[in-house]
Amino acid sequence: MAIFRSSTREVPADPPSVPRHVAIIMDGNGRWAKQRLMPRIFGHKRGVDALRETVKACDALGVRFLTVFAFSSENWRRPADEVSFLMGLFLRVLDSEIERMHERGIRLKIVGNREKFSPELVTLIETAEARTAANSGLTLSIAADYGGRWDVLHALNRLHAEHPERSGQVSEEDLVPYLAMSYAPEPDLFIRTGGEQRISNFLLWQLAYTELYFTDLLWPDFGQKAFDDAIAWYQGRERRFGRTSEQLQAVSGC
Ligand code: IPE
Ligand code: IPE
Ligand code: MG
Repeated sequence: MAIFRSSTREVPADPPSVPRHVAIIMDGNGRWAKQRLMPRIFGHKRGVDALRETVKACDALGVRFLTVFAFSSENWRRPADEVSFLMGLFLRVLDSEIERMHERGIRLKIVGNREKFSPELVTLIETAEARTAANSGLTLSIAADYGGRWDVLHALNRLHAEHPERSGQVSEEDLVPYLAMSYAPEPDLFIRTGGEQRISNFLLWQLAYTELYFTDLLWPDFGQKAFDDAIAWYQGRERRFGRTSEQLQAVSGC
C-alpha cells in the first residue's frame, strides 16, 4: 500500500473502509430519560445497554479500537447525586462485565485522571486492565475524568519531568508517547450522539484529522442500525490529510 510520510504519522493513500479506531461521545442520556418522565440516572443505565451493543457492532465489523467518553473533566460540575450515581454505575458495570469482556478477547483501558476516584474504583480499574492486558481483540478505552486539555498538559509535564533538557524544543514525536492514548492510532471516525455539534474537551490532540459524525439520536437509542449508518457515512468520505484529491488519486492509481 502506498504511504505518505508526515511528521506525526504515516497516512495510507487508500485508507481502509473499516475505521481502525472509532471514538464516541455518548451524549443524550439525561434527555432520553426526561422524555420518558424518568430521572436522568435511568438514561445512564440504558446508556450501558447501548454501549454493550456498540462494542458488539465494532467487534463484528473488525474495528480495532473503540474509545468512549464516559465522564469528562467538566462533569464533576453536575449535581453531587448524579456524579455519585455515575461513579457507582462505573464501578458496578466494570465489576459485572469484566469477565465477559475477557472471554471475548477484549482489551480494556481506562484513560483519564484517576486522582479523584475512590480507592475501590482505582483498584478495580487496575485489576480489569491487568486481567485483559494480553487480549488481542478489540481495545475498548473508556475515557473517565478525561479532558483533552488535561491530556496535553499532563503529557507535557511528564515529558518535562523525564527530559528537562528538551524544554523549549519539544516536537510532536516527543510529546505523543506521553499522551493518554499513545497505544492507539488516532481515531478515524468520531461519533457524537445527542444533537450537539461540539467536541466538549474530548480527544483534542488526537481528533486533528478524524472524520466527525453527528447524529440527533440520543445515546440510549443508538444501536446496530445507527452504527451502520455512521460507518456508511464514513465510507463516503475522502480523507485528504491536507493534500488534494488529484494527489490521492495519482497515488492510489485511480
Ligand atoms: C451523557 O449524557 C452521559 C454523561 C455525560 C455522563 P448526558 O447526561 O449529558 O445527557 P444529556 O446531554 O443531559 O441529555
Ligand atoms: C460530554 O457530554 C461528555 C460525555 C459524554 C461524557 P456533556 O453532556 O457533558 O457535554 P456538554 O457539557 O453538553 O458539552
Ligand atoms: Mg450531555
